[in-house]
Amino acid sequence: MKFNIAIDGPSAAGKSTIADMLGKKLNYSHLDTGAMYRCIALAAIVNNVDLTNEEQIVDIIATTKLDMKSDGSIYLNDKLISDEIRSEQISMAASNISKFSKVREALVKMQQDIALNNGYIIDGRDIGTVVLKDAKIKIYLTATSEARGIRRHKQNLAKGFESDLQKIIKDIEIRDYQDMNREHSPLKKADDALELDSSNISIDEVINIIEDYIKSKEDRSIL
Ligand code: DC
Repeated sequence: MKFNIAIDGPSAAGKSTIADMLGKKLNYSHLDTGAMYRCIALAAIVNNVDLTNEEQIVDIIATTKLDMKSDGSIYLNDKLISDEIRSEQISMAASNISKFSKVREALVKMQQDIALNNGYIIDGRDIGTVVLKDAKIKIYLTATSEARGIRRHKQNLAKGFESDLQKIIKDIEIRDYQDMNREHSPLKKADDALELDSSNISIDEVINIIEDYIKSKEDRSIL
């Protein structure tokens, strides 16, 4: 029987890549909740909404159609925007609007409704602590800001984008601070999550560790 797997951690720790790869191996779907906050931030910017106005952001959620496809593609009002939401501007805007409790309530409800189907690997900041408090498998994935910055920098260069490593590391640290210190559902490790530091290990090794962890729980009939 399928269950849900929660993966939390700071930005650029590799959560989405790992959730995607693990999902393909286990035949689970991947729900990237960060992408949902990013979509709302993009919709707010496109509509010239003040990002500090909670009520207006909530209105944007109510009037926006968000489609998170199981293949990872994302549609905002029927338009494919998977790449558009990955810019640094949207990263910071998503972090800014995610501090509002009403914004979180609306998106958490959507995430919980999707998770009712089971068979999801859901990554974000509050999955193990709020969205899926009862998830049997919870992973807290970290890495130093330098290691995360270097990975992001290499990805940018590989895509042919301009990239400034020191600025990337600084932006990661600003977002970490915002995400860990906000009043509502700050990023923190759930007490029952397995913590993995991926600074010095490869993505494949992280996936092997998670698979072994799931298997050890299955063997002990904990799942
Ligand atoms: O995972 P990400 O970098 O795409 O997330 C973008 C922002 O969205 C992140 O800085 C904080 C917010 N977020 C959140 O508050 N809760 C989540 N479950 C996922 C993301």
